Amino acid sequence: MIEKALEALKNGEIVLVFDSDNRERETDMIVAAEFMTPEHMTQIRNDAGGLFCVPLSSENSDALGVPFMTDIMDIASSEYPVLAELNPDDIPYDEKSAFSITVNHRKTFTGITDNDRACTINELASLCKEGKQREFGKYFRAPGHVTLLRAAKGHVRSRKGHTEMSIALMEMAGLTEVAVCCEMMDDKTGGSLPTAEAEQYAKEHDLVFLSGADLIEAYKNYIEND
Ligand code: 5RP
Ligand code: ZN
Ligand code: CA
Ligand code: ZN
Repeated sequence: MIEKALEALKNGEIVLVFDSDNRERETDMIVAAEFMTPEHMTQIRNDAGGLFCVPLSSENSDALGVPFMTDIMDIASSEYPVLAELNPDDIPYDEKSAFSITVNHRKTFTGITDNDRACTINELASLCKEGKQREFGKYFRAPGHVTLLRAAKGHVRSRKGHTEMSIALMEMAGLTEVAVCCEMMDDKTGGSLPTAEAEQYAKEHDLVFLSGADLIEAYKNYIEND
């Protein structure tokens, strides 16, 4: 299944990844940022419906200079004490959030349209692919409408979120380590889409569905044989 997933990602297709019954119990739609199109935006917005996020490898995050939002809050809390009171030390499914800052490409208008968000996402992948991370501020502004996520150092070895799993997929596929992920929601209940229904969606749309356990196992083998 992992081979099919990597092939699909290299072809610019969406892959579905369920994290685990011991974590969020969410299935995210994942696609490589370098292949992000306005059509993907429309499909993911309509059929997934969660929060669009852009996982960045720890290395790309460092090269771009983007901090975890919690680090910004720590530093700014001397001026704004409420930011210390808002400390996210009680996330029920993980120890640490992956949230970083939000951005728009400078050539976008509002930043929220399918064209604008695809542009921001695609251009960010190009910047990283070309090794021009130091020029981030020249081409992007913040805040914006695309939420960046910082993968933990060591990636899936230290945190097993969709953030790190997206980056593991990009790495195994040999793609730029910038991805897109978005939770699949259930229009009937307003909750997360039940796993069986996410699998059904994958079947109907001819998409690969992966479990976090299989993904992490494949990544372990990939690292060992590297
Ligand atoms: C941001 C989230 C999503 O669950 C997304 O999958 C990234 O988070 P994580 O790495 O914690 O799974 O909450 O919309
Ligand atoms: Zn989530
Ligand atoms: Ca919908
Ligand atoms: Zn998630």
